[in-house]
Amino acid sequence: MSPLLDVRHLRVTFTTDGGPVTAVHDVSFAVQPGEVLAVVGESGSGKSVSLLSVLGLVDRRRTVVEGEATFRGEPILGLSERALRRIRGRDIALISQDPMTALTPVHRIGDQIAEQIRAHERVSRHAARDRTVALLRDVNIPMPERAVDRYPHELSGGMRQRAVIAMALSCNPALLVADEPTTALDTTVQAQVLDMLRRLSAQHGSSVVLITHDMGVVAEMATRVAVMYAGRIVETGTVAELFDDPWHPYTWGLLDSIPPLTGPRPRRLPSIAGMPPPPGRTEPGCPFAPRCRAAMPICRLPPPEQVAGGHRALCVLDAPTRAALRPPRVAA
Ligand SMILES: Nc1ncnc2c1ncn2[C@@H]1O[C@H](COP(=O)(O)OP(=O)(O)O)[C@@H](O)[C@H]1O
Ligand SMILES: [Mg+2]
Repeated sequence: MSPLLDVRHLRVTFTTDGGPVTAVHDVSFAVQPGEVLAVVGESGSGKSVSLLSVLGLVDRRRTVVEGEATFRGEPILGLSERALRRIRGRDIALISQDPMTALTPVHRIGDQIAEQIRAHERVSRHAARDRTVALLRDVNIPMPERAVDRYPHELSGGMRQRAVIAMALSCNPALLVADEPTTALDTTVQAQVLDMLRRLSAQHGSSVVLITHDMGVVAEMATRVAVMYAGRIVETGTVAELFDDPWHPYTWGLLDSIPPLTGPRPRRLPSIAGMPPPPGRTEPGCPFAPRCRAAMPICRLPPPEQVAGGHRALCVLDAPTRAALRPPRVAA
């Protein structure tokens, strides 16, 4: 199976007042047809920049994007703004954290979705409106025939995000990039919206890249995971591989901060002590070492890659050492 999106050795450098700052270092990942890839990591780890730079949504004048990326086998980096705009919205749709980045306050939501449909397909106004009502019904917006005529500010945050998902799905995209789509929503609404996103992407056969900082969301939604830290993918594998036998001490920290499903909820969830390094860091060693409970002098050198099939981690720890520090979970 050839991947839908294939990104190799991506490097993204911003021009800042303090000089060039590399936010993404040698990131490679692939998205297979129909799969849900989660990209997870703390805020500032380079999740959004990795995806947005591939989609041509970073400021070209201030950003150098290096590496290779193909979408359906065709190069996508460096395409003209016009070619990229055609791909976005028809083949690739983006759902961002704030639904208002996708919606215009001054137009009714139905008109905005219908216009999106008509921008990519030759259909009548009437047919586009019917499709819009059906989409609003699919995303569980109550009374869709009335909701089409509402303005964004007349809907709750959860309903607005549903409308954005309806708009994203309106052109049956092959790939949906959802960048922390539920972070701004209440917990119960979050679960409903994620559920719906999973159901609809499966129904439309869309692949999904789901960006999140929440390992709980990863467990619910994803088939594969890429864990990002300081602009690098520090571990990647299937959800089962990462949850049952995580290799990177940073992944251990992310897993330990998932709230327990049963038993008393701790008053404060453990979080990983310390802070990520500043984006301009130039030391060659493992960027996580200063926060790592397993750090050794050798971590001042670039970490080697551990590989077993599709499971990879950038870390010096070998299997026996890992097992001693954190025993793998044994299937019941
Ligand atoms: N336009 C920009 N100019 C300079 N630095 C940026 C810009 N956009 C993002 N960054 C930096 O790149 C790093 C990664 O950001 P981002 O991908 O948004 O993180 P995440 O999505 O994982 O929270 C951060 O350190 C951020 O400050
Ligand atoms: Mg982000």
